Amino acid sequence: MEFTSLLLNIENSVATLTINRPDKLNALNSVIFSELDSVFKFFKNSDEVKVIIITGAGEKAFVAGADIKELNTLNAVQAKTLSENGQRVFDLIEGSEKPVIAAVNGFALGGGCELALACHIRYCSSNAKFGQPEINLGLIPGYGGTQRLPRLINTGRALEFILSGDIFDANEAFRLGVVSRVFEPSELMTKTKEFALKLASKPLHALRFNVKTANSINNLHLTQGLQYEAVTFGMCFETEDFKEGTTAFLEKRKPVFKDK
Ligand code: COA
Repeated sequence: MEFTSLLLNIENSVATLTINRPDKLNALNSVIFSELDSVFKFFKNSDEVKVIIITGAGEKAFVAGADIKELNTLNAVQAKTLSENGQRVFDLIEGSEKPVIAAVNGFALGGGCELALACHIRYCSSNAKFGQPEINLGLIPGYGGTQRLPRLINTGRALEFILSGDIFDANEAFRLGVVSRVFEPSELMTKTKEFALKLASKPLHALRFNVKTANSINNLHLTQGLQYEAVTFGMCFETEDFKEGTTAFLEKRKPVFKDK
């Protein structure tokens, strides 16, 4: 696949997707959204890819937000469409059945923070900075930030950041549960890839059913979620890898998974 603003590397079933616009701190413009849309549709059907990492090019930023130059010229109708399109693409990322890990390597502001929030797991470097500074532009977050941040860290804490536009650092992100690990900048990609490779060694369908079922908390009440868990639990029993995993355990040998 050919891209203008993304770099894609696929190795050992792990796709590393780099937002590549470092001169603008990887700010998200319409080209990037359209390319993210295409690449996540490709991941869905690709036998080559089991786990996805998203990061930003350069030393300074994961993504410093939506492209303010693009925003500056829009009217209300165009802005609503832009927001809906961004939300749709981030839903596609969150809705990926293959695990998506954000490797946040610097500024994750505005749309960058929202992109990280749409990923299933977030790791960051010790120099990462998070925030929803849209208020300073006379705006509110428009790619899911008003919804995903309150759900992740609670409404009061999220509103503190959204209303003040204050930036929070890697330690605070860890304390709040926004990221699950913090690494030295030089170690971030190695450690993230190490974890991604571990996931890639697991049976594909069990990975998918786990992500789908955990994601369902966004749409289902607990009772429905438990029913859904029972359904996806049952579906695992139809896979060859379930037979292999349980048989290998009983035969005291290592399983050989085939992602079937
Ligand atoms: N949209 C468009 N361009 C952006 C951008 C954004 N969200 N964030 C950074 N850039 C551009 C800058 O305009 C600058 O371009 P230039 O070299 O052509 O002037 C380049 O990226 C480097 O940014 P700069 O501001 O010079 O870097 P800095 O180290 O001084 O500051 C930030 C870094 C992240 C603090 C600052 O760029 C910033 O506040 N960005 C906007 C963050 C934001 O409000 N995001 C939410 C948008 S809805």
